[in-house]
Amino acid sequence: MKPLATALGLFLLLLLLASSTTTNAHNITKILAKHPEFSTFNHYLTATHLAADINRRETITVLALDNSAMSSLLSKGLSLYTLKNVLALHVLVDYFGSRKLHQITNGTTLTSTVFQSTGNAPGTSGYINITDLKGGKVGFGTSDNDGKLDAVYVKSVQEIPYNISILQISQPLNSAEAEAPTAEPSKLNLTEILSKQGCKAFSDLLIATGADATFSETIDGGLTVFCPTDSVIKGFMPKYKNLTAAQKTSLMLYHGIPEYEPLQSLKSSNGIVNTLATDGANKYDFTVQNDGNDVTLKTKVNTATITGTLKDEEPLIVFKIDKVLMPRELFKADEVAAAPKSSKSKSKHKEADAFAPSPSDEDPADQAADNNGVAGLDGRRLVLAVLSMCIGVLLLM
Ligand SMILES: *[C@@H]1O[C@H](CO)[C@@H](O)[C@H](O)[C@H]1NC(C)=O
Ligand SMILES: *[C@@H]1O[C@H](CO)[C@@H](O)[C@H](O)[C@H]1NC(C)=O
Ligand SMILES: *[C@@H]1O[C@H](CO)[C@@H](O)[C@H](O)[C@H]1NC(C)=O
Ligand SMILES: *[C@@H]1O[C@H](CO)[C@@H](O)[C@H](O)[C@H]1NC(C)=O
Ligand SMILES: *[C@@H]1O[C@H](CO)[C@@H](O)[C@H](O)[C@H]1NC(C)=O
Ligand SMILES: *[C@@H]1O[C@H](CO)[C@@H](O)[C@H](O)[C@H]1NC(C)=O
Repeated sequence: MKPLATALGLFLLLLLLASSTTTNAHNITKILAKHPEFSTFNHYLTATHLAADINRRETITVLALDNSAMSSLLSKGLSLYTLKNVLALHVLVDYFGSRKLHQITNGTTLTSTVFQSTGNAPGTSGYINITDLKGGKVGFGTSDNDGKLDAVYVKSVQEIPYNISILQISQPLNSAEAEAPTAEPSKLNLTEILSKQGCKAFSDLLIATGADATFSETIDGGLTVFCPTDSVIKGFMPKYKNLTAAQKTSLMLYHGIPEYEPLQSLKSSNGIVNTLATDGANKYDFTVQNDGNDVTLKTKVNTATITGTLKDEEPLIVFKIDKVLMPRELFKADEVAAAPKSSKSKSKHKEADAFAPSPSDEDPADQAADNNGVAGLDGRRLVLAVLSMCIGVLLLM
């Protein structure tokens, strides 16, 4: 009985880990690319960075506008930043399949949107009223629109149950609040932002290596920066000075990922991420993993913890971290690992509960083993490899 329960536990854990390594379950750009009548809408989802936001979320409904509905919206001459608010109003943070649409309790509901969740929407202006109308029609309107339902449901474009639903509606939703002119965010100067807030040493190294140019070019498409704070950089300088010029640049690029990833998104999408240093055979990746309330970044050599957010202004986010991230492409695991424990034994893996993912209890010997044995495997295959090892142990019991 006990081995069965243990095996079941391991199986559930496998499912959990396998799903937690999936970062993008859907890709709105790819889905809409199959429907040319939404090409303008699709283009503006990308141009406003809303597409990335949609892909990050689960349980979401996109109210799609076809090219003629989009041309009536574009004729208003809104700036891209204002247009983003209007389009964000067309993304509901709940799942409405075409069936659910016709089964709304009491025939009417108010539902929240991405515009509401940006914090740019005053009062209830970020909510959409969905109402079952007579004759099987379903109406949509913003809640700051004098009770007018501007648009009706046309058809279902694609539904992936409880992940993403794309429904075509007849007209753009009007909202005075969303259409209010939005100031263009000031052009973000990364090195200037860093230098003022405890990341001067990191900023200086970015400039010295020339890596700042790559970081700056990446900002518009989304950029997450992990900055080891000034005292951390100071302690690391002996190791840094040992690197060649090209290696120094790679080390700096290793501290950026070419996507805007706020903390809650890092927390919910644990797994392997590529960095600005990633380039074909040189993987330069690391693993994002939760540790209680903390988010840790695990390279094959060391583990850093996010200690704070220095700047969050989409498309740029900068986190402070407590260690310089050391990629295995540049450093050996034993440079930081303590002497390996000799009593390392597989018996610790016999019980399912020994498997609770807790990065802090992984000893340096395990890390070194990872490095030698399965460094080339991705997260999911790693889980499978460890799992099959454990099942092997179970069968021997
Ligand atoms: C829905 O999303 C989850 C988590 O991202 C994923 O594991 C699952 O496969 C998705 N469902 C479908 C039907 O694609
Ligand atoms: C989504 O699909 C588009 C078009 O196929 C592709 O260019 C883009 O890289 C994809 N995005 C992600 C996050 O996979
Ligand atoms: C539906 O209407 C009834 C009676 O007016 C009300 O008590 C109930 O709260 C409503 N349900 C929802 C989900 O709005
Ligand atoms: C939605 O709008 C309709 C029409 O103006 C109104 O009758 C209904 O009460 C509204 N629903 C909610 C939940 O506010
Ligand atoms: C950023 O600011 C620094 C210092 O103020 C300045 O020297 C640098 O030229 C600026 N970089 C860009 C790309 O504007
Ligand atoms: C620098 O490199 C040399 C030669 O590889 C090595 O012996 C030394 O320990 C390194 N110094 C530091 C601080 O890593």
